[in-house]
Amino acid sequence: MNYHIVTYGCQMNVHESEKIAGILREKGYEKQSPLEEADIVVFNTCCIRENAENHAFGNIGALKKLKKQKKHLIVAVGGCMAQEEGKAQLLREKFPFIDIVFGTHNLAKLGEYVERKKTNKKAVVEIVPEREGTEDGISPVRTSYPNAWVNIMYGCNNFCSYCIVPYVRGRERSRRAEDILAEARALVQEGYKEITLLGQNVNSYNGDGRGGMSFAQLLDAVASIEGEFRLRFMTSHPKDFNEDVAAVMQKHAKICRLLHLPVQSGSNRILSLMNRRYTREKYLSEIALLKRYMPDCEVTTDLIVGFPTETEEEFEETLSLVKEVGFASAFTFVYSPRTGTKAAQMEGQIPEEVQKDRIMRLVALVNAQTREKSAQYIGTTVEILCEDYDEKKHFYIGRDCYGRMGYFQSETNRVGEFVMLRVTKANGISLYGNAEEKRG
Ligand code: 5AD
Ligand code: SF4
Repeated sequence: MNYHIVTYGCQMNVHESEKIAGILREKGYEKQSPLEEADIVVFNTCCIRENAENHAFGNIGALKKLKKQKKHLIVAVGGCMAQEEGKAQLLREKFPFIDIVFGTHNLAKLGEYVERKKTNKKAVVEIVPEREGTEDGISPVRTSYPNAWVNIMYGCNNFCSYCIVPYVRGRERSRRAEDILAEARALVQEGYKEITLLGQNVNSYNGDGRGGMSFAQLLDAVASIEGEFRLRFMTSHPKDFNEDVAAVMQKHAKICRLLHLPVQSGSNRILSLMNRRYTREKYLSEIALLKRYMPDCEVTTDLIVGFPTETEEEFEETLSLVKEVGFASAFTFVYSPRTGTKAAQMEGQIPEEVQKDRIMRLVALVNAQTREKSAQYIGTTVEILCEDYDEKKHFYIGRDCYGRMGYFQSETNRVGEFVMLRVTKANGISLYGNAEEKRG
């Protein structure tokens, strides 16, 4: 029996799909297969923006035919969108062939739901409110060697006015530091070469006292694990990023000199309407602090354009911030109203043409900056962690600690190795070159 998991959205969801795979494997499903050969299909959805939802709706709808041909096929829909108020019912009405609907808080019960569905044929629709505790105790089937993701906390307390995450993921719950450390140690022993600590707002780790230590202490402890690996973490929130974390980053060469610090907007009025609780000036002072500790540290960010009432001048403040900071790269989004959030009820929603114009101008600026930065690497040597092999293009693919892709050819399999890449060509965030020597 095979499974097929379709994942939408962020890294958090990608890792959650690894947990879903772990649960399915325990229930006797052996491997991820093409859709047509699957005995169970799970859609792990995202609701952060409307297009992620539309995408999932389209893909689920397209399954109707396969389900008709293959009666025993189980179709399950879970994740953030399923957790959204009223969406489980809507999904069942629109697609009566769905067998299981589950939310973000009862992912661990998917195995039980599959059993239930097999024995009594009735659809299982179970959305539960935020439960106490976390999704701990599920062994994931990791699919991204040599990279591994480790949740340090779940949920979010911030209620940025545009964001649906706190509604579908609940309040912050921190995992116990000792469990996180045990997981990280095991990963290093198994040979994973990059660990990314995941949380919606890692700087408020242990805000509920359940972790047992602060985020800076946790980062220090994970980075102190013996072995050859890189350490990353995301996402940091500018309202609570602090010097302790910068000091720990500086202390450990294992921690990538890269901070993902979403700014969202360069305008103080918009930041306030977004309920971000920091100003442009505070944000810039944090970048200055980081550079004081680590002059080679780079920053990536998230940006939203077309937030309700955003004026042309305020949008230009975002452009000027991008120019001032010089991000290594940035994720750029058009504001998408989400039902139930404060911003969705605000007056002054921005017309689509204006949003489109702004996103195009922002993307052009970000791309030009990224290109310029990458071009500076030509003629230098960068260390990349080799992650994959592209069979069609005959290239090994890796990433440097700033997240830039590196491509090279090799006679031997280099996946899982740190490789020194002599850069000969750059294109966007991609660097091309020759593998020089092995690390160490
Ligand atoms: N519209 C557009 N972008 C959004 N994000 C979160 N909610 C919305 C929304 N309603 C973006 C933010 C966040 C990233 C994960 O997604 O930039 O940092
Ligand atoms: Fe959403 Fe803000 Fe929480 Fe990030 S910090 S998940 S943007 S509410």
